[in-house]
Amino acid sequence: MTSKGSARGWNGRVALVTGAARGQGLAITRRLRSDGFEVVACDLDPKGLAEASEVGALVVAMDVSNEADWSSAIAATVERYGQLDVLVNNAGILRRVAVDEESSEQFRNTWEVNCLGPFLGIQAALPHLLQSTSAAIVNTCSTSALKGFPLHASYCASKWALRGLTQALAAELGPRGIRVNAIMPGPIETQMLSPEAVRRLRETGSKLGRPEDAAALVSFLVSAEATFVSGAEFVVDGGQMASR
Ligand SMILES: NC(=O)c1ccc[n+]([C@@H]2O[C@H](COP(=O)([O-])OP(=O)(O)OC[C@H]3O[C@@H](n4cnc5c(N)ncnc54)[C@H](O)[C@@H]3O)[C@@H](O)[C@H]2O)c1
Repeated sequence: MTSKGSARGWNGRVALVTGAARGQGLAITRRLRSDGFEVVACDLDPKGLAEASEVGALVVAMDVSNEADWSSAIAATVERYGQLDVLVNNAGILRRVAVDEESSEQFRNTWEVNCLGPFLGIQAALPHLLQSTSAAIVNTCSTSALKGFPLHASYCASKWALRGLTQALAAELGPRGIRVNAIMPGPIETQMLSPEAVRRLRETGSKLGRPEDAAALVSFLVSAEATFVSGAEFVVDGGQMASR
């Protein structure tokens, strides 16, 4: 099988990455391609997926909160590559709003994308991950799943829920040969952070990470170097939580 855009040739493994049109998901896609993976890059934004396509990823437009979209994405993966070894649940949305002004509809939507989406992805991928001898799942949580942040009720709640899902499934799927880990990025300079948020963070002396910082961690977690790592939570925030 060819591996267009991969520096090393195919490593024999296939990864599906969500939220892959930009930011951390695109960086993860690029990193896994250079690690030798075939990558299926999924996102709500079909136009944005052009960059992932340029590095040789198979691109699939999908909404992670939609069960039927997951069936199609997994079917496309297996049709093209015949296997799936790694699932990176990276897609997410952020809401910054006072709790008095939050709506039940937006609260539910944040949870559907950030937590239900990864659950649906894991369920859809499971039959194929179970056939892999190197299966790994990485869920992108946030430092918002470790502490409370004002004006982030729906985001924090959804990421704490995703953290819980990660723990439960690490315990449940470990004996079935699938490792499940979480990464907890701090502020990473992507379009998720508004220009005002970036300015505010810089003014208050916060360090901002690069999407590649999260991608390097994902690369390790899905690698053979991490075969004894599961149910773990990795902060990638330049040390900010340590001083909070
Ligand atoms: N940027 C940060 O400071 C930061 C910090 C901690 C955690 N995170 C988490 O990192 C992950 C990646 O975020 P990012 O910083 O790259 O942000 P981003 O906004 O640049 O990228 C998010 C991507 O997810 C896609 N997406 C959104 N909803 C989707 C859906 N329903 N279905 C499919 N795709 C969808 C978007 O189209 C976009 O391409 C998210 O889970 C986010 O919550 C980000």
